[in-house]
Amino acid sequence: MRKQIAAANWKMNLSVSEAATLFDQLLVTEHNLSAHQEAIFAVPAIYIPLATQKLTGKNNYYVAAQNCYPKSNGAYTGEISAPMFASVGVKHIVIGHSERREYFGESDGFLAEKTDAVLAAGSIPIFCCGEPLDIREAGTQNSFVETQLKNSLFHLSAEEITKVVIAYEPIWAIGTGKTASSFQAQEIHAYIRSVFADKYGQAIADQISILYGGSVKASNAKEIFSQPDVDGGLVGGASLIATEFSAIINALK
Ligand code: 13P
Repeated sequence: MRKQIAAANWKMNLSVSEAATLFDQLLVTEHNLSAHQEAIFAVPAIYIPLATQKLTGKNNYYVAAQNCYPKSNGAYTGEISAPMFASVGVKHIVIGHSERREYFGESDGFLAEKTDAVLAAGSIPIFCCGEPLDIREAGTQNSFVETQLKNSLFHLSAEEITKVVIAYEPIWAIGTGKTASSFQAQEIHAYIRSVFADKYGQAIADQISILYGGSVKASNAKEIFSQPDVDGGLVGGASLIATEFSAIINALK
């Protein structure tokens, strides 16, 4: 069975005491995650020790990083490598978020290098893709996303690609309150799966978890997650509110 994942992306938010309080409030709720369900917290790197401590002993809860640098070590001031994250027990790293593509000019080729680095460290890339509004309005979102996936991931072996989690995040729905309809989400998730099926075969494509991101909230999570090719969500704003994110975890199928 494919993994169903509720992933929080805190982005650059919260003080350390606010982060601690958020974990405490969230963990009051018993989420009863099944074996195929995971709750993942991509926190600012400086809060990884705190998050790890808060989640100690809790099965299927993971701490993630929001980014990494593709080199293992060296003179790259301010950067953190995939093996460094692995050394502190971080198993998942978000790669290619649209904010990193846009504000930090991260190209498909650079994201291919980062993906390789994460896999080489034995960790799991949560690879983000998604189109801006003008592409959606032109109706060319499928080929736009397909190009992102081909350029950054198609060099991977079949074994490697099954380790990658995909997060489809339409840029026009991020932080805007606008959500793709469950129909729109299913349509492009199915397309993304077909892109992997064409390259790697249906059996491999069926193993890849594809998350939806873009204004996921407690009120819409259940409907979006119920779509057959939607395997959970990558959640920004609503992951900063304990009751909201708890409900989103509980909306996993
Ligand atoms: P919002 O949930 O705030 O729209 O953010 C989505 C996102 O970018 C998660 O990575």
